[in-house]
Amino acid sequence: MDIRTLKTKLFSYTCFVLSFIAMIPLVLIVFYLCREGLARMDFSFFTETQPAPGVSGGGVSNAIIGTLFLTTISTLIATPISILSAIYLAFSKKSKITEMINLSISVLQSIPAIVVGLATYTWVVRSMGSFSMISGAIALAVMMIPYITVNTVEVIKLIPQTTIEAAYAMGGKFSLIVFRVIIPTILPGLITEQRSEMKTLPKVALKVENLSVWFSQNHVVKNVNLTVHKNKIVAIMGPSGCGKSTFLRAINRMHDLTETARVSGKILIDGGSSDILEMDAMSVRQRIGMVFQRPNPFPNMTIYQNVISGYILTGKKLKKQEKDQLVEENLKKAALWDEVKDRLHSRGIFLSGGQQQRLCIARSLAMKVETLLLDEPTSALDPIATTKIENLIEKLKDEITIIVVTHSNSQASRISDYTGFMYLGELIEYDSTKTMFTVPKNKKTEEYLTGKFG
Ligand SMILES: Nc1ncnc2c1ncn2[C@@H]1O[C@H](COP(=O)(O)OP(=O)(O)OP(=O)(O)O)[C@@H](O)[C@H]1O
Ligand SMILES: [Mg+2]
Repeated sequence: MDIRTLKTKLFSYTCFVLSFIAMIPLVLIVFYLCREGLARMDFSFFTETQPAPGVSGGGVSNAIIGTLFLTTISTLIATPISILSAIYLAFSKKSKITEMINLSISVLQSIPAIVVGLATYTWVVRSMGSFSMISGAIALAVMMIPYITVNTVEVIKLIPQTTIEAAYAMGGKFSLIVFRVIIPTILPGLITEQRSEMKTLPKVALKVENLSVWFSQNHVVKNVNLTVHKNKIVAIMGPSGCGKSTFLRAINRMHDLTETARVSGKILIDGGSSDILEMDAMSVRQRIGMVFQRPNPFPNMTIYQNVISGYILTGKKLKKQEKDQLVEENLKKAALWDEVKDRLHSRGIFLSGGQQQRLCIARSLAMKVETLLLDEPTSALDPIATTKIENLIEKLKDEITIIVVTHSNSQASRISDYTGFMYLGELIEYDSTKTMFTVPKNKKTEEYLTGKFG
C-alpha cells in the first residue's frame, strides 16, 4: 500500500471514529427525552385546549392543525402563481422584464426570501389589523414562490421540444396548449419529483434556426433549420463544397476565427434558453467538441498531455491524481487505452492515423463535452481504423450527442439515427436515416444517395 492510500485510509477511519464519538451525547439526549417524555405523556398532550397567550401548557393538536391549514393555504396561493410565472419565463422572449424577474427570483432563493416574507407578514398584519393564519399564509406563500417557480422552469425544460411542437402543429392555441399539455405534463414531475419518465423521452440537444453563413459576399449556408435530439447520431451528407463543414464549424463558433465570415440565425441549447451565437465562444467550445478530417494531436505533447490538453489550454489546474484518472477514463472511452497504456509519455504524433483520431476524440471527451462534431473523421483512415472509429461513435452516443459529416453512404446508414442532406448550402432533407435511405422525399437526395452525382 502506498503512502497516499495509507493517509487516505487513516483520515477516513479518524473521521468515522470522531463522528461516532460526536453522536454519543446526541443519542443519550434523545434517549433521556424519550424516557422522561413517554412516562409523562397522556392523551391530553394532543387534545388539551390552548390556554391564553403567554400561559404555558396546552395540547399540540392546535399547532398541528394550524400548520396544516397554514401550509395548505400558502400552497394554494403560491402554486398557481409560480406555475404561471414559470410558464411565462420559459416561453416568452428574453426581454428586460424576464431578465429582471429571473434576477429577483434567483436573489429571493436565499436569505432575502426571509426578509421579504417577514416584511410581507408585517405589512399584511398591519393592513388586516390583527395576527391571523391568512397573514402567515400570505407571507409563507411569498417565500415559496421563487422556489416553486425555479423548480417548475427546470421541469418545463424537460418537456421534449417535439411535444410542444406537435401541439403547435395541431393548430393549438397557446392558452390551451398550456392547460391541456404543458401543465398536465409537468405536474407529476413537480409533485413527486419523479422526472425519470420525462427524462427518457428524447430531449433536444441543439436547435438550429435560420442559420446562414457568408464568406464575404458568398452565401455558403442558407437558412438551415434542424433539431438534434440528445444521445442521437446525426449524419450530414452532401456533395463537395455544399457547406457541410461550414455548417458544422458554425456550431462551435470556429467562424469567429475567420475575418470574412458572417453568421446569422440561432443555434439554441439548454432547452432553447441559450443561443450559441451569443454565448462566450470559449465556453461553447468547452461544451461542444470538434474532431477534424485529418487527425491533429498536438505534436509537442505526449499522449497523456494530449488527453488533458483542454485543461492545459484553458488554464484549469488539476491534481496529478485527477489527471491520471482523466487520462485512463477517456482513453478507455475512446477505445485506445489497451493500445497505448504502456507508452502514455511518448508523443501523440507517433501513433497510427486511426489511433491519433481516437486520441483526438479522447481529448474532447476529457472536457466532458455534451456534443461532439465530427467532420469526416474517417476519410483519412483505412477500413480497419474506420470500423474502430464507427464502433466507438456508436458506443459514445450513450453519453453524448454526435453530429458527423460524412461522404460515405454506408457509414451514415450504419451509424446514424438521423440524416441531413445538404445541397448548394441548403438543407434539402432531414429525416430518420431509415426513411432517408429507403424513401427519400426529395429527388436530389435520391439522386445523390444512388450515386448519380457527388
Ligand atoms: N474560410 C473560408 N473562406 C472563404 N470561403 C470558404 C471558407 N471555407 C469554406 N469556404 C467556401 O464555402 C463553401 C463551402 O465549403 P465547405 O468546406 O463548407 O464545403 P463541404 O461541404 O464541407 O465540402 P467538402 O465535402 O469538400 O469538405 C465552398 O465554396 C468553400 O470554398
Ligand atoms: Mg468539408
